[in-house]
Amino acid sequence: SVDIVRSVAELRARVADWRSEGARIAVVPTMGALHEGHLTLVREAMARAERVVTTLFVNPRQFNSAADLAAYPRTEESDARKLAALGEGLVLFAPDGDEMYPPGFSTGVSVAGVGEGLCGAGRPGHFDGVATVVTKLLLIAGADAAMFGEKDFQQLQVVRRLASDLNLPTEIVGCATVREPDGLALSSRNVRLSAEARLQAAALPRALFAAARRLEAGDPPAAVLAEGEAAILAAGFARVEYLELRAEEALAPLAAPDRPARLLAAAWIDEVRLIDNVPVAPA
Ligand code: PAJ
Repeated sequence: SVDIVRSVAELRARVADWRSEGARIAVVPTMGALHEGHLTLVREAMARAERVVTTLFVNPRQFNSAADLAAYPRTEESDARKLAALGEGLVLFAPDGDEMYPPGFSTGVSVAGVGEGLCGAGRPGHFDGVATVVTKLLLIAGADAAMFGEKDFQQLQVVRRLASDLNLPTEIVGCATVREPDGLALSSRNVRLSAEARLQAAALPRALFAAARRLEAGDPPAAVLAEGEAAILAAGFARVEYLELRAEEALAPLAAPDRPARLLAAAWIDEVRLIDNVPVAPA
């Protein structure tokens, strides 16, 4: 079974006990509705540390719309069962809104540069909300390591930046994206897709991988990106919010893949916004 902790004070007390026993501690921040992508992060954490804290907090500050926040799945009981099936001694930190943001809360963490553009452009304030809650969770958990998925590649870079800039004592570990057999990245938003849209959605990773191979072969980036966008739209997506080539390092804009790079996209299908990204090796 999993121990559910609701208060910051109680989690701090547990962490202090574990520390006095000399245990290594890892934390896996999530918003719940756990799927195999999240569970892979937890397994990776269990391989690195004797004590693992999974956090479950649907962070209102990172949502752009009240409707999206209200529609976010909340499945704590089944989340707890999925964690329990992974092993003994796991802790689920599931605070309520007031515990994280008590009345009078006034502080925000904002990461310039890497938090701008891409998802930062389409979702104003989103990464400020992410940066603020992740800073709090890392400080509360006092962990040696924190696991984040490459699925949200810009988020991973934002977290790396803030951890370095604020001298947080936690190592940030990036984990590869877990995909369905047809290539679609696992996401809690996938369940909102109709059966038809779910099939069409695999065109997003397909287009990204195809474009990455062409870039690696030296094809001209402008044409590759334009044709990639056309392929995503032709498959049934309503809109491509962005499809961009960025340097892996700090996500700097890149005209050609002359260093390790990433191809990142956000696209809308069936009123659902999907994001994905793939690595691009230097051509
Ligand atoms: P959430 O969307 O629940 O994701 C929690 C973690 O799981 C993130 O690090 C995310 O990148 C990772 N993840 C999601 N899908 C994945 C997949 N298919 N493969 C690998 N990893 C995957 O991201 C958040 O929550 C929030 O922004 C959070 C960091 C918890 C702050 O509120």
